[in-house]
Amino acid sequence: MSKSDDNDPNRKKSTQDSLESQPHHLAGHTYDGIDELDNALPRWWINLFYITIVFSLGYFSYYVMGDGPTLVREWEIDRGEQEIAQLSKPAGLKSVTEDELKLVLKDSTRKLAGQAIYQSKCISCHGAHGEGGIGPNLTDDHWIHGGKMTNLVKMVTVGVLDKGMPPWGTILKQNEIHSVVAYVKSLRGTHPAGAKAPQGDLVEQ
Ligand code: HEC
Repeated sequence: MSKSDDNDPNRKKSTQDSLESQPHHLAGHTYDGIDELDNALPRWWINLFYITIVFSLGYFSYYVMGDGPTLVREWEIDRGEQEIAQLSKPAGLKSVTEDELKLVLKDSTRKLAGQAIYQSKCISCHGAHGEGGIGPNLTDDHWIHGGKMTNLVKMVTVGVLDKGMPPWGTILKQNEIHSVVAYVKSLRGTHPAGAKAPQGDLVEQ
């Protein structure tokens, strides 16, 4: 409302008329000669209010009484999903050092995990004990592609398809490749029965 409207006596009068013509209830409070009106709340407002009550019942029974996740729990779930996504990235070639792999080699749980992977994915070509078959003997000190664990990681990740070694980088997760490489490395010098003749270069280690 503009200022000129405020000062317009006719307008004031007509507002007053329309107020007086409406049936209204007095709340019974008068202050400085002004009566407080007790008008009904708008329907939409009341409906909104009922909806919040219904919502709060559901909210309370799920999050407070039931097993709805707390904020902390939700955060933990998000973190877990991120970690899984991180681990299941296809194994890249970069960013693992010989020292990091040596730590895996010392970790018996990781080696057991590596053994399980070896048994399900590698024995068909490298033999049950790494003695070799279609693929080379993995227990001796001779390596075609280098004997460092980083060489093995690279080898297992990218493979040599035309020689019959599949690339595992898209099938195994990065940490699984590290585990299976640690397991393979732990087979060194075990002299399994039926060992295949050495192939590649003698690697001093
Ligand atoms: C389908 C047969 C096959 C399977 C399955 C296979 N390999 Fe091989 N692998 C080979 C062949 C063949 C070679 C030799 C490649 C060459 O001559 O360059 C090889 C080479 C390797 C080498 C390098 C050896 C060296 O002397 O440098 C490593 C390490 C190796 N495989 C590990 C694995 C692991 C670990 C698995 C299981 C995840 C696996 N391989 C599964 C056939 C296979």
